[in-house]
Amino acid sequence: MATIAPASGLRPAVAWRPLEPGDLAYVAALERQIHAAPWSIGNFRDALAAGYCAMVGEREGRIVAFGVLTLAPGEAQVLNVSVVPDARREGLGRTLLRRLIEVAARAGAEQCFLEVRVSNAPALALYAAEGFEPVARRDDYYPATATTPREDALVLRRDLAPRRTGGG
Ligand SMILES: CC(C)(COP(=O)(O)OP(=O)(O)OC[C@H]1O[C@@H](n2cnc3c(N)ncnc32)[C@H](O)[C@@H]1OP(=O)(O)O)[C@@H](O)C(=O)NCCC(=O)NCCS
Repeated sequence: MATIAPASGLRPAVAWRPLEPGDLAYVAALERQIHAAPWSIGNFRDALAAGYCAMVGEREGRIVAFGVLTLAPGEAQVLNVSVVPDARREGLGRTLLRRLIEVAARAGAEQCFLEVRVSNAPALALYAAEGFEPVARRDDYYPATATTPREDALVLRRDLAPRRTGGG
């Protein structure tokens, strides 16, 4: 008897929650699979200790996305946006980014920054679609790794302040 593959829209929902100390080893292992210059487990631990906003998206008990945001007076910086390869193009990156931005806006940030490799077309497309615009380029910002050459970073910015309408 033939089986019918579930439509991607029917994949189980992702639940979002804060990153917890018990997630660190697993998330650091995912990070090594996803990024050419990954954060270490110590970087994630430091982020938690420093009070950064760090969240994970979990599907059926498995972390499929994670992100980190830091807040400073008046502004925020997105430090990490990651989706595991087999969960991409489902809207999780967009949802995660929007959640981080919501945290930033609620905390009073008026603008949000992030850095991205100039070659990272998927991330650049996501950020452009979410209203981020390039404001600077940092030459050779990313050091060479075993698998990637040195690379420039683009600094992107998005306004978070509600736009004023009318005069006065
Ligand atoms: C970048 C990343 C987070 C996107 O996550 P995702 O869940 O696949 O993205 P989404 O499904 O939410 O896509 C949202 C939008 O981003 C853009 N986008 C995402 N992946 C894309 C791709 N491979 N090619 C072109 N556009 C892409 C599209 O505009 C897309 O909207 P659409 O689906 O309506 O066309 C994911 O590819 C990833 O984790 N990459 C490795 C880690 C990384 O580079 N993080 C960013 C570092 S700054």
